[in-house]
Amino acid sequence: MTYLTLSFVVSFLLGSIPWGVIVSKLAFHKDIRDEGSGNIGTTNAFRAMGKVGGALVFVLDFGKGLLSGWLAAFVFAPAIAAVPVDAATPDGQLLLGIFGNPALNPVGLALALAFAGCTLGHIFSPWLKFKGGKGIAVAAACLWFVFGPVGFFIEIAAFALGIAVTRCVSVGSIAAAAICPLLALYFYWGQWVPWLIIAATACVVIWAHRANIARLRTGTENKIGSTKTT
Ligand code: G3P
Repeated sequence: MTYLTLSFVVSFLLGSIPWGVIVSKLAFHKDIRDEGSGNIGTTNAFRAMGKVGGALVFVLDFGKGLLSGWLAAFVFAPAIAAVPVDAATPDGQLLLGIFGNPALNPVGLALALAFAGCTLGHIFSPWLKFKGGKGIAVAAACLWFVFGPVGFFIEIAAFALGIAVTRCVSVGSIAAAAICPLLALYFYWGQWVPWLIIAATACVVIWAHRANIARLRTGTENKIGSTKTT
């Protein structure tokens, strides 16, 4: 298994740990999937378990994204860079063959694959029959390494702006996911394979919000502070 494959697989396994379900069952003796929106992520954890449970799920989900990004940036990417060019990254060479991209950068690929891995692992957790959350906390954390602090804070600003305007967490989440491909265009200009991986992952995150989008269209989406949940 190459370092690029490892970056994806390890991140996927980290992302797949369903902290929302684990915390709700072990600490609160209920299943978060039976509460509120049914989502296993931070927003619903606050609804289902209050401030302590919500904060705990946020820290744990954010932590698995951070760890995925950190491993890609400081373990897998340096390991790839240390391999002589001729022998480097069969995965990268394969993608190079498919996409014909002369600017392919294995380090960018390791980071993009970690981002995709932890986010998709969270959304399609094998431990939950390939169901899961919506990927926002885990993806945001990983972006600290994928985009760096400036890109990360732009994402947080989009998230906060969406919530401030609508009082719907989902709007902030969708806004953050929507600008992700644009930011990736800036930070990964010329590295089209990493860009494609990041952009496709962001599209999956928006797709994971399809129930929220349906509620937004009918004006029934949950708002912060509202006691009614759907
Ligand atoms: O990140 C999840 C959030 O965007 C929506 O969560 O529980 O309201 O569907 P929820």
